Amino acid sequence: MRGLTHMNTLTSSPPSFARVNLQTFGCQMNEYDSELVGSILKERGFAFTADESAADVILFNTCAVRETAHTRIYARLDALLHEKKARPELVVGVLGCMSQNLKEDLLLRFPAVDLICGPDAYRQLPDLVDRARNLRERGTAVELSEYETYDDIAPTRVEGVNAWIAIMRGCDNFCTFCVVPYTRGRERSRDAEGIVAETRVLASQGYKQVTLLGQNVNSYRHGDTAFADLMAAVGKAPGIERVRFTSPHPKDFPVKLLEVIAADDHLCKHIHLPLQAGSDRILKKMNRGYTSDEFLRLVEQIRTLIPSVALTTDIICGFPTETDAEFVETEQVMRAVEFDSAFIFKYSERVGTIAAKLWNDDIPETVRSERVTRLVGRQREISLRRHRAMIGSTLRVLIEGESRKRAGEWKSRTDGNAIVVFADPSRRIGDFCDVRITEATPNTLRGIVVGSRAGKPVG
Ligand code: SAH
Ligand code: SF4
Ligand code: F3S
Repeated sequence: MRGLTHMNTLTSSPPSFARVNLQTFGCQMNEYDSELVGSILKERGFAFTADESAADVILFNTCAVRETAHTRIYARLDALLHEKKARPELVVGVLGCMSQNLKEDLLLRFPAVDLICGPDAYRQLPDLVDRARNLRERGTAVELSEYETYDDIAPTRVEGVNAWIAIMRGCDNFCTFCVVPYTRGRERSRDAEGIVAETRVLASQGYKQVTLLGQNVNSYRHGDTAFADLMAAVGKAPGIERVRFTSPHPKDFPVKLLEVIAADDHLCKHIHLPLQAGSDRILKKMNRGYTSDEFLRLVEQIRTLIPSVALTTDIICGFPTETDAEFVETEQVMRAVEFDSAFIFKYSERVGTIAAKLWNDDIPETVRSERVTRLVGRQREISLRRHRAMIGSTLRVLIEGESRKRAGEWKSRTDGNAIVVFADPSRRIGDFCDVRITEATPNTLRGIVVGSRAGKPVG
């Protein structure tokens, strides 16, 4: 009830009539948080606009995971200083992980910024915006909470087919490279009954798919309910045809979760399993809690229990002290597993993390770049091979929207999360179609429809 009390406080304040432009960077959790922020601000009377130049308030919901995420926002904040000379009434705010990470430093470094608000402080956002607009007061709300899950707030969802549901917040893993435990605080899980009830409502609104979000979903626990139990319950919600989740941690991976996924057609056969590195020495330094052998054994177990599974991963190149030979070990694990796709990142030192405190950031930029380029090349070969093996097969896809690259074509996804593009004007968003695959590239499949099932309209 703590949360509801806060909402009541918000609704008792006078309404605000400003237009807000909210821009989101970073991961799906941030997308979800922007939907929460949407509801919190609408409750106070704020309206939203996609047009930055028509907005009274511009808010950036930011990411801090790599330095590139920071530099993009810095450039925007510098540009907005000029804009504010022409429009002095404009209010600019920074939300999300970067605001939590840099706190008041952001106000000192960027005169354009009027307010900063961290991921656990969004209930204070309407007041911060009002004070900035009405009193020209710069403000900060960056307290982390051990309890906040925004359980009582229904997000204002923007997407038509998929709904994100954060089942937990924060992270207690402290991988030594990662800033997330500092920007999002301690791990806490939402009540399972509330999540299942929310899934039912989403189905009645026409959503076809839900994606359960957490930084480490394996450690979800609410009362006696573990993540595998939650997945089983969500899979039974009538009307939801696909359930996805991200991300599980390779350490302590519950076998029961694999059995639950294997047993229910509604649970997608796709697991995002972040490897990060293939060398045991580096994995230990990263505090990942598994060896490369343990990772490979887990992959074998997953493929035994769910033979059609698609596996994707994240990899970091150039962690402090990573030698050429250790980098080659990562490449070897990649080749052994043959992931369907992989996100490959250059190591980016984050202030305050254990790695930044203990080790020199000693791998030259050129070496990091070469390593990333080499792994991206390897993964393209593997993805192409795996995609080519699908040519001639018929796969059930869900239409998510129009293809951005090819006008008049649909972008859809298989159960395993592969993108399939096809043309068929008689179909619409939310339809399930059976598509025979005719062409393959490393990132996309193309095909022709051989059958379909219409979707209910969303809304
Ligand atoms: N909780 C998620 C990861 C969130 S961050 C999980 O454990 O799966 C997403 C990815 O960003 C990580 O998997 C990692 O590969 C990458 N990443 C995190 N910190 C990084 C850093 N300091 N430098 C480079 N990549 C990083
Ligand atoms: Fe970061 Fe590790 Fe937590 Fe993922 S599990 S958010 S990589 S600390
Ligand atoms: Fe997500 Fe970036 Fe924060 S990856 S959790 S928005 S640091």
